[in-house]
Amino acid sequence: MESCFDELIDRKNTSSMKWEKYEGTDIIPMWVADMDFKTPPAVLEALQNAIDHGIFGYTNVPEELNNIMIDRLMKLYGWKVKKEWIIWIPGVVTGINRVCSIFGKKDKNIVTTVPIYPPFLEVPQNSRQNFVTVPMKIQNHRMTFDFEKLEQALSKNASVFILCNPYNPGGSVFTKEELARLVELCSKYKVLICSDEIHSDFVLDSDKKHIPTAILSREAAANSITLMAPSKTYNIPGLGCSFAVVSNSSLREQFEFSLKGHVPSVNMLGFYAAQAAFSQCDQWLSQMIAYLKENRDLVIERVNKMKGCSVNPIEATFLAWIDVRETGLNDPVKFFEDAGVGLSDGKFFGQKGFVRLNFGCPRSLLEKGLDRMKKALNAQPKSTIKSHNMPQ
Ligand SMILES: Cc1ncc(COP(=O)(O)O)c(C=O)c1O
Repeated sequence: MESCFDELIDRKNTSSMKWEKYEGTDIIPMWVADMDFKTPPAVLEALQNAIDHGIFGYTNVPEELNNIMIDRLMKLYGWKVKKEWIIWIPGVVTGINRVCSIFGKKDKNIVTTVPIYPPFLEVPQNSRQNFVTVPMKIQNHRMTFDFEKLEQALSKNASVFILCNPYNPGGSVFTKEELARLVELCSKYKVLICSDEIHSDFVLDSDKKHIPTAILSREAAANSITLMAPSKTYNIPGLGCSFAVVSNSSLREQFEFSLKGHVPSVNMLGFYAAQAAFSQCDQWLSQMIAYLKENRDLVIERVNKMKGCSVNPIEATFLAWIDVRETGLNDPVKFFEDAGVGLSDGKFFGQKGFVRLNFGCPRSLLEKGLDRMKKALNAQPKSTIKSHNMPQ
């Protein structure tokens, strides 16, 4: 049966960053993390109502939106959030940069893990601070923290640890044990956790659950700033609407102060879209997750049969982290672009030899992209392809 997620929507000539990159070519864009699905009908209706009203003045945070968030965080995670803890900001990346600017120190290090969503790697540069990256490790076909190396980095003059959970790329949903260990280390070395949880709604495995870092313990709540958004989930990243949850009043005051005059408030349409999304779209969300699961399964099955390529199970997100080292390709992104598929280059995530494929698109488009990748790899001279091994 056709689903609304099967609809192929022409995004050409819409100033879409994703599609404009390959304007005038036949390359299917499967790079930046926005999906090719239409936002839910209730969100469109809320936006239409605001447009019909016709006045786009300065806007307060709708009281109702905060109440919706408080209920939602309680329902999903048992997280008892107070209204004043929620601070609306126009972007998660903006939030991370603000956190690092205020709480990072000139003589200390910002720490994060690699591979990682590329804007994390630009944060220390933006705030002129030192930077230490710690490689993640693969254990039982799953990306996880190398706690030994992480402790070394956290123990040496660190100020802020930028966490991504669920993890982009790789898709790990961190367990209570993993997060507890992380919280313990950060508390021990007095390192603030900036927890980017923008992908929290994208848990694809039904036996896994997203756990916000801040709910682990009092210590965790006091020592963290959580960043969340409706933007990925409901495919409204262009509306610039996200929020921070900060229970520690001292951190909150400093964070709020740092926004003043530097960061504009969320625009009115972002607020209305978020309100409709978080209150009326649960059914749409579960259908979208079911659709993504099938896309994920297809990607895993097909990519692991491609010459020289492998991908580990993906617990969350709509992003596949593909190991292409055994293809012997010098420039895998160029190779796949020549084959008609636009992927993200692992080198920008701090790990060469990998590409990231965004499977948040209609299945027919995904199949077309996968077919093109397979065909191009099959046409490669045999000598350049090494034997196929799953990464450990
Ligand atoms: C982990 C992560 N954080 C943040 C963002 C972007 O957030 P924003 O557009 O709100 O700055 C993305 C987008 O891909 C992401 O994957």
